Amino acid sequence: MTSFPDLPQPWRRPRRLRRTAVIRGLVRETRLTPDRLVLPLFVMEGEKVSQPIGAMPGQARLSIDRLITLCSQALDLGVGAFALFPAIDPSRKTPDAGEALNPDNLLCRTVSTLKTELPNACIVTDIALDPYSSVGHDGLVAQGAILNDETVELLAKMAVLHAEAGADIVAPSDMMDGRVAAIRAALDAAGATDVAIISYTVKYASAFYGPFREALDSAPVDAEDVPQDKKTYQMDPANAREASIEAMLDEDEGADMLMVKPALPYLDIIARLRMATELPIAAYQVSGEYAMIKAAAANGWLDEQASMTEALLGIARAGADVIFTYAALDYARWWRESRL
Ligand code: PBG
Repeated sequence: MTSFPDLPQPWRRPRRLRRTAVIRGLVRETRLTPDRLVLPLFVMEGEKVSQPIGAMPGQARLSIDRLITLCSQALDLGVGAFALFPAIDPSRKTPDAGEALNPDNLLCRTVSTLKTELPNACIVTDIALDPYSSVGHDGLVAQGAILNDETVELLAKMAVLHAEAGADIVAPSDMMDGRVAAIRAALDAAGATDVAIISYTVKYASAFYGPFREALDSAPVDAEDVPQDKKTYQMDPANAREASIEAMLDEDEGADMLMVKPALPYLDIIARLRMATELPIAAYQVSGEYAMIKAAAANGWLDEQASMTEALLGIARAGADVIFTYAALDYARWWRESRL
């Protein structure tokens, strides 16, 4: 047996600061409080309906009344911000996504009811055409291509409608070029100078959006002249420098906050943006990230609370100030019980 008689005893011992729970608490570098979370919610027509989403255990499409009850519970738990996504009736979806500009559409009615019932709630609305598009794209489609500037015009009008309904923050998730500037200009022209913009600045063409598209029935449809993916507008998962370019543009165009999406496979991008800007950074733990943990936990392969908490903490440690997560309510309960 080899021995190392000359090896000195270590005089620096990092384990000293890991010895007890109290000491670990003293030196903990990241604390994730529920007030940094945004809860995404799916709304549908009807009353007293809650329709579970198969690939997102614990999540459901809710009618407006049910949604308000849930938001009220969330507020009590310290989660005060909600990102709303409408499940539009298929009969109202058209190629030009015209329902997006109907001031009485499901989303606008949800926003104004929520604002009236729970004035303290912070309402974040999604700016993109996909829930309203019969072809399942975030922009207008012509001859197999996604039209940029024509789409941006619609998005700016959509943002004004959401602001008029009572949105606090609009969140363009479409990845068209120039939309942040157009939305800022339209909001300001409409007098909505206080409505903030969280831009989905770095949104990757990701496979992890699958369960969300099931929730809204919003995947690109299988038809001729309809692109089968979103790769001409969402970013290539292989690219990091391009993320810095997107961040620079969105900041210049007037975004108040920059988002990275998905979160866990892109922690390097969150850290990169944290260095590139002084603006707050948001990250979206997307449907597929949530589903993976839920599925493994349901099989007994992972401890749900420990693994979800670790994933969210990692996202915060990487540099996200704000985290969009379907687990916001669970996290807030765990936090209340155990002061994580
Ligand atoms: C669409 C939109 C998507 C998500 C948020 N807004 C899906 C997509 O781009 O296809 C995904 C969110 C998630 O997966 O949880 N504009």
